[in-house]
Amino acid sequence: MGEPGKTPMQIDLRRHLREKEIDRDLTRLICEIADASKYIVNSIRTGDLGVAGTSNLYGEEQLALDVLSDRILRKRLTYSGVVNTIVSEETDEIIKVDSNGSGRFAVAYDPLDGSSLVDVNLAVGTIVSIFEGDDIMQPGRKQIAALYVLYGPRTTLVYTSGDGVYEFNMNHLMEYTLTQKVSLLAESGGIYSPGGQRNLYSKGVEALVSKLEEEGSKLRYSGGLVPDFNQILLKGKGMFLYPHLKGKPQGKLRLLYELNPMAFIMEQAGGAASNGKIPILDVQPESIDQTEPLFIGCRKEVELAERLIAELG
Ligand code: AHG
Ligand code: MN
Ligand code: MN
Repeated sequence: MGEPGKTPMQIDLRRHLREKEIDRDLTRLICEIADASKYIVNSIRTGDLGVAGTSNLYGEEQLALDVLSDRILRKRLTYSGVVNTIVSEETDEIIKVDSNGSGRFAVAYDPLDGSSLVDVNLAVGTIVSIFEGDDIMQPGRKQIAALYVLYGPRTTLVYTSGDGVYEFNMNHLMEYTLTQKVSLLAESGGIYSPGGQRNLYSKGVEALVSKLEEEGSKLRYSGGLVPDFNQILLKGKGMFLYPHLKGKPQGKLRLLYELNPMAFIMEQAGGAASNGKIPILDVQPESIDQTEPLFIGCRKEVELAERLIAELG
């Protein structure tokens, strides 16, 4: 675009959305989230790893990074003019934000997934789910867009609006430039990323993991959903699971903030996502903090998970 510091080949996020004819309000929303992520990445890189409620060197109130990230996002979304409803993993209440009635979208988000990994310097992310209208309690199939930002050695943004999955990289000017349209996943793969304690697995999940190991799958688990998922998505193979556990039949991960957006992205990349019985995107949410077991990745492996769980539990 002729701006200094850019090569002509780089397509930034806004231009990409315009070229894809994404409507103006949704473009606005995605770009607001992308802008918010610049402040979040800055807080992660430079901020005190404060505990909420304590004060820093200067006597100012210190915020835990997940609380700070939540405030950054909530502010941007509230003043974007295109959002009417917000729900966040951090606040756990539905917030109506539309003062002049122009907001078209309802947004659910996890401002900082994996926040306990920041102090050991592992990768973390922000996850966002977007619906048209003001009903946040809809099955994920109704999402019109979903995205995540991964704060790793690089900061990347991955989104879908229901027409493929695209990855962007934050450059030295803190602008997101298109790196790739994500390729479709293989039918089955060689990576597995198993959450939860194995001694609490059901017979079906134990059989699944044993089978993956017999087939030579490699273990890849960092403890952060965003980087673990991103690895499978971009390598184009494998499965992430956070299953139902003994004593935790609904698993750990949250439907609204974590599962729905990741499931939408995964299906758009040709993979599948299930709670072990039905597709994640068909689950009707009953409460905002609902959790579901998760099996997400290559189609054949998700089918295998469903089959073994139906047989063995
Ligand atoms: P959050 O930090 O938002 O509470 O979620 C962390 C999640 C997710 O990133 C990861 O897949 C999972 O918790 C890891 O849980 P375990 O430590 O039980 O494996
Ligand atoms: Mn989370
Ligand atoms: Mn979180």
